[in-house]
Formats: sequence, C-alpha cells, structure tokens
Amino acid sequence: MTLTGRSLADGRRIPCRRAALQAGNTMANTVIIGAQWGDEGKGKIVDMLSARSRAIVRFQGGNNAGHTIKVQGQETILHLIPSGILHEGTICLVGNGVVLDPEVFLQEVDQLAQRGIDVSPARLGISKKTHLILPYHKSLDKAREAKRAGRKIGTTGRGIGPCYEDKAARVGLRAGDLCNPELVRSKVTHALEEKNILLRAYNFEPLDPGAVIDGLLALAPRLTPYLTEVEDRLQEVQQKGGDILFEGAQGVHLDIDHGTYPFVTSSNTVAGNAAAGCGIAPSALTRVVGIVKAYTTRVGSGPFPTELLDDTGSYLRTEGHEFGATTGRPRRCGWLDAVVLRESVRLNGLTDIALTKLDVLQNLPVLQICVAYEYHGRRLEYPPQEEGGLGEVTPVYEELPGFDEDISGCTSYADLPDNVRAYISRIEALAGVRISLVSVGPDRRQTIER
Ligand code: GDP
Ligand code: IMO
Ligand code: MG
Repeated sequence: MTLTGRSLADGRRIPCRRAALQAGNTMANTVIIGAQWGDEGKGKIVDMLSARSRAIVRFQGGNNAGHTIKVQGQETILHLIPSGILHEGTICLVGNGVVLDPEVFLQEVDQLAQRGIDVSPARLGISKKTHLILPYHKSLDKAREAKRAGRKIGTTGRGIGPCYEDKAARVGLRAGDLCNPELVRSKVTHALEEKNILLRAYNFEPLDPGAVIDGLLALAPRLTPYLTEVEDRLQEVQQKGGDILFEGAQGVHLDIDHGTYPFVTSSNTVAGNAAAGCGIAPSALTRVVGIVKAYTTRVGSGPFPTELLDDTGSYLRTEGHEFGATTGRPRRCGWLDAVVLRESVRLNGLTDIALTKLDVLQNLPVLQICVAYEYHGRRLEYPPQEEGGLGEVTPVYEELPGFDEDISGCTSYADLPDNVRAYISRIEALAGVRISLVSVGPDRRQTIER
C-alpha cells in the first residue's frame, strides 16, 4: 500500500499509517478482536483479511481458542497457528503473549502439512519468549475445576490459567528454553516439587519429573527450528511497507481485567494487548476491527443477560451450529447485547465492526436487541463494574422485524433485504461504529464488504 504522511516542520514527510487509512486504504496494521464472549467468527475474518496482509500474529491465549475457516467446502479449525496460514504469501507468528502447548502446535503443523500447506519455519515462527503449557498445567486446570463443583468456571481444560499463573510467578518455561536442556531439567524439576503437592491435595496423580522432561526434550528438535525473534520479523515487515494482522482470541468479555471476572480467561483479550503480546509499539496499531456475532453466544459459566433458555435459544444453537470448536460443548445462545458491544467499543477503540452469522437469524419473526440494562432501579448504558453485577441486570429490549429471505448468497449490501439492512443500521447506531463487513455464511466468499 502507498504510505502517505504528515509533514515535519522542515518539510520532510513522515510515513503515517493512520494518514494512509484516512486516505482510503482499508488495511494498515489491523487488530482483530472478538467483541463478545468468543466464537464470533474471528478465524473467518482473519483468513479473509490475510489475503491483503504480509504477517499474521497471535498475541494472547492458547489452544483454548478454536478458529474456523471454510474455503470451498473444506473446513479448517486452528487452535494455535494463525488463521492466515492458508494464504501462501503470508508469515504467521506466535507472539510472546501466547501460551503454547508444544504437542498441539506440532499436531497442527502435521495436519496442515498433510494437506500440502507450507508450514516451514520460513513462514511460521514462535517467539522465544512464548510460555509453554506443560502436562502439569493441564492436570492442575482439570483438578481445580473438579474441586470447584458448583462454582466451575467451565474452562477448556487446556492448562491456560495455570500456565499464565507460572508466567506471573516467574517460574514458567519459555519456548527459547528448549535450546538449553539443563534449564529445562531444572525448571521442570523445581516446578513439580510444588505442583505435585497440589495435585496430591486434589487427589490427582502426581507427575514424574523425568517423564515430563524427556517428553518435552523429545519434541525440542522439531520445535526449535520455529523459534524466532518475532519483534525483528514484524519490524522488517513494517519497514518494507507490509501490513500486519493481529489475531485476537476469545472475546472482550472474557478479558482477565475487563471481563465477567472470575468467569474469564487468564489473559488480556483487549486490543491494547496486541502490542505487548508480540513486541510491537502501540503506535503501530492503526485499525481495530471488532468481530460481532449478530446474536450472542457464550461457552462455560458466568453471567449472560440476554441468554435465551427457550425455543429461540435452541433455534439459534441448531441453525448456527453453536457447538464449541475446541471442546464440542453446546454454546449458550441469546439476543444481541448492545450494552456489551458498547463496552467493547470503548475498551478497544473499534474503528469498524465485522458483523457475522446474520444468515442464522433467517425465519425468526422478530429480532430483539438489548439496548440498556435496568440495575437496582437505575438504567445503565454500560455494564456494572462490580463482581457479579452483570448477573443482576434486567435487559431492556428493542424489537425489530425479522426476515424470511435466504441471504447466504447475497454478494452486495444492496442485495440484502430491507429488514436486514434496518437491523444492521440499528446496531451501527447503538454501537456508534460503522459495520464495514457483513458475513452471511461460513465460507470465505460469503462476506460482503461495504
Ligand atoms: P472464532 O473462535 O471467533 O474464530 O469462531 P469459531 O470458529 O469458534 O465459531 C464460529 C463458527 O461460525 C464457525 O463454525 C464458522 O465456520 C461459522 N461462521 C463464521 N461466520 C459465519 C456466518 O456468517 N454464517 C454462518 N452460518 N456461520 C459462520
Ligand atoms: P475463541 O478464540 C469461547 C472460555 C471457556 C471458559 C473461560 C475460561 O475460539 O473465541 P480457559 O480455558 O481460557 O481458562 O477458559 O473462557 N473460553 C472461550 N470461549 N471462545 C474461546 O476462544 C474461548 N477460550 C476460552 O469456555 O468459560
Ligand atoms: Mg472459537
């Protein structure tokens, strides 16, 4: 893309991606985040936008994510490898903010390689600073959930929380450590001294340090070629004028700080973390696209004001195939919540919205949107901030007419029926952000750009 820029006092021009964006270029460095509770269709949109990007980087989360891409009938579900991998010319990177399960990463590499996709280290890399998920993280995740009984978070059981705990406690193992077997031995041995006490207390099998170390070192020869300086790779892309796509996982309301704590994941999912999670300056982030499902879903426990426990909820689950891409669990379904969306706009500075799964709403006689909450006698435009507050709100709904037409074949905005366009316009007005992409089916081509 052409870089335009601002002028310095001496007349020199400085390249400015924001200026380029304002001049009508639609890419620039773009952060993609889920604006609800995950599974909004981030994988599909990242894949689509990857056609115009040079590098795609994951900056947080791990294989708790399940990102689905559909191209000409073939479905690909990615948990760790960035969703740009199907586009030949891209570089795909796993940033320092991610927690990486080595086995899952290699399984994904093998599955893609079998299909003839280039997964060589020339185009796929892992930061040396990425923390590794080890068997004891997975055991502890499951042990803690089992102990919680009626207060389960409903985690994916992939060891995400315990791995981030070790990172914060400064006892984690990082991908770069794989080049130093002595360091691996000492870190795992020390970690297991404590973890085995915990596992026994939870009535879980303790782990043999030797087996964990050997298992990891056996994978090292396949993993170490992927180690790279993500910061350098991204800097090079920028210097050559290439565009970077930052692929968020989970959703804003699962954010460790801003989500429905404690029913959240263990990382910051907001766009602000895109910079810290891969080692790029925040000023390099120019566009932030919030992926918004045309209704709402949530997997696991936690408050969900617009949840539908009736036939309409079942209809959305069936028509939208709302079953987890990672765990297969049925997703909880409900109406679109503009209060949740408004909070995502403010926390992430969304420049645009991609609205997905509109086709799923076909044949519903009316469409409801939650526009505000009633909370202890007050009307709220934003979610309450105290713990548990969201569980005590009553949604205030606005009703719009539904549509019967099959929109899955629509290729332009003008093709969409009036009622669909009215629904889109109302969401734009409630969010105060332009909807620049509309998705009407799972396939890459079923996307309308405005
Ligand atoms: P992600 O985690 O945000 O990447 O989303 P998931 O892949 O977990 O879940 C989204 C699901 O919806 C996947 O099965 C997609 O193939 C599918 N999907 C994405 N966009 C659309 C759409 O516009 N219409 C329909 N019907 N399905 C979609
Ligand atoms: P993508 O990227 C939906 C949810 C879990 C659980 C909570 C904590 O596909 O949108 P964790 O295993 O992270 O400790 O679980 O977060 N969760 C997701 N829900 N989509 C995801 O990822 C999720 N990743 C985690 O269900 O409620
Ligand atoms: Mg998903």
